[in-house]
Amino acid sequence: MRESVKNNRILVTGAGGMVGSYVNDVFSDNQLYLTDLVAMDKGCTSLDVCNPVAVIDLAKKIQPDVVLHLAAATDVDRCQLEPDWAHSVNSIGTQNVALACQETNALLVYVSTGNVFSGKKKTEYTEFDKPGPMNVYGESKLMGEQIVKSLLNRYYIVRAGWMIGGGAKDKKFVGKIASMILDGNSSLKAVNDKYGSPTYARDLLNGISKLVGTGYYGLYHMVNPGIASRYQISEVLRDVLEYPDLAIESVSSDHFPSAAPRIRMEALRNYKLELLGCNWMRPWEEALKDYVVNELIPVLS
Ligand SMILES: NC(=O)c1ccc[n+]([C@@H]2O[C@H](COP(=O)([O-])OP(=O)(O)OC[C@H]3O[C@@H](n4cnc5c(N)ncnc54)[C@H](OP(=O)(O)O)[C@@H]3O)[C@@H](O)[C@H]2O)c1
Repeated sequence: MRESVKNNRILVTGAGGMVGSYVNDVFSDNQLYLTDLVAMDKGCTSLDVCNPVAVIDLAKKIQPDVVLHLAAATDVDRCQLEPDWAHSVNSIGTQNVALACQETNALLVYVSTGNVFSGKKKTEYTEFDKPGPMNVYGESKLMGEQIVKSLLNRYYIVRAGWMIGGGAKDKKFVGKIASMILDGNSSLKAVNDKYGSPTYARDLLNGISKLVGTGYYGLYHMVNPGIASRYQISEVLRDVLEYPDLAIESVSSDHFPSAAPRIRMEALRNYKLELLGCNWMRPWEEALKDYVVNELIPVLS
């Protein structure tokens, strides 16, 4: 078992988002500088990663050991409709952060996504598969990866899967379905022809903390292992919430049209972590149950 990172000065972008909400807990043994586009909480500073001068000035002032770059345009449909927004936040924003790391000699952690792939593979993607994004979000995140690789030697690019987390602020699939079930809906529809790897944001940050402790720089997949459809996730939610009579109808993705194409397969395998003997991530069902029981039920019921 690797040691988690300790006693570092860590500058965090996008700290107000879903993954960012776990930073204080997971990196509590470090000196944290939290920033977000709009700083909602005390202790968080406003920083737009699209502003190169602001990013570099703050980095020079803080002199971080590590920059945890979580800021991103994550609304996949909005990215498709407003590609300039996607590219400016996910690509240029990442360039600004990478240049600031270059200037201050900080280590960069950039969180990326399975959307960099085409989705045509039958099984989980590994780090050795060739990217080929099918939507603007994936293109912009892949460009972010390429920029990080071209500008820095000391970096971790960590591709995550379908993010789970947020507790009271969870507006994603798990939060929505859990609310529908607890509100007494007797039936719901869930897509069964698209596949991903759920990733509990808390597990992801714990994994990143240990990975940073290794010094094994590079590109990694870090998900809660396994392949899931939204339908299978709904089944687990039904079981954990103990609503055995809930009817879940398996539907195709045509039932939920979206502006951005969604790839069929975006599940990832933590292959490099496996090869290094560092795959700390637990199976997605276990992580999902833990999240629902310990974080979601207490705030929903
Ligand atoms: N969510 C997923 O399913 C998923 C899956 C794989 C990888 N990832 C990656 O994981 C990372 C964290 O994602 P998340 O789920 O925590 O996303 P999130 O909840 O959308 O958080 C992203 C944060 O970035 C902020 N932001 C947006 N534009 C910014 C800008 N120009 N400057 C500074 N901050 C800005 C957002 O602020 P506003 O809310 O005010 O816009 C938000 O607080 C991202 O790199 C994302 O691409 C996410």
